[in-house]
Amino acid sequence: MSLVKSKKRVADHGEVFTPQWMVEAMLDLVKAETERIDARFLEPACGSGNFLVAVLRRKLAAVEMRYGRSQFERRQFALLALMSLYGIELLADNIAECRANLLDTLVEAQDLDESDDLYRAASHVLNYNLVHGDALAMHTIAGEPITFAEWGYLGKGKFQRRDFRLDVLTQSAAFSAKDSLFAHVNKHELFTPIQTYPPVTLRDLAAAANTNLLQSP
Ligand SMILES: C[S@@+](CC[C@H](N)C(=O)[O-])C[C@H]1O[C@@H](n2cnc3c(N)ncnc32)[C@H](O)[C@@H]1O
Repeated sequence: MSLVKSKKRVADHGEVFTPQWMVEAMLDLVKAETERIDARFLEPACGSGNFLVAVLRRKLAAVEMRYGRSQFERRQFALLALMSLYGIELLADNIAECRANLLDTLVEAQDLDESDDLYRAASHVLNYNLVHGDALAMHTIAGEPITFAEWGYLGKGKFQRRDFRLDVLTQSAAFSAKDSLFAHVNKHELFTPIQTYPPVTLRDLAAAANTNLLQSP
């Protein structure tokens, strides 16, 4: 894969993709996290997803190892692995490629076709987790504040979604700093979701993918 699309894009957007060997070497620095199915990763200038795709491959290998014998669990945890990955990208073609590359990775690992509920649920999740926007300004291309869905697995096929604003989440580190006025305060008291949704199943998320076709975030 070429690491540069054009000289103009390098000059305008600093668009130089990271080679795979370097991605893998960097991910090895946090190997245990890359193999933890629900460990969350945000790539704030994700390009076509070189880091996110590599993390997803590792997580899906972990899913196979732990849940490979149960078709039901394998599918739930494969979706959870995808749900834990987030990206922001300024350029429309890159964010589209990034979503497609992640979906392809899941399709390959789970042997899916487009009519499969897992395929459609994954498309729905990718639409939310992969944001077309400006990571520095922390707003979407439409000028709205970037929000991220925190997905959790409740067990028995149920997922919980809570939405948080990125600009609020990024203050989290400052609040936890050792000598901060708020160091003793439980973060959960400060960082509350802007919306909490009722639990949903993989099938519910697949059904919701149809509305994505009409209304993309
Ligand atoms: C150096 S490339 C890295 C891409 C990918 N992370 C990788 O390692 O292969 C930087 C990417 O950031 C995008 N970008 C530049 N400014 C951005 C911004 N303010 N917000 C989000 N993405 C941005 C560019 O379009 C480009 O795809």
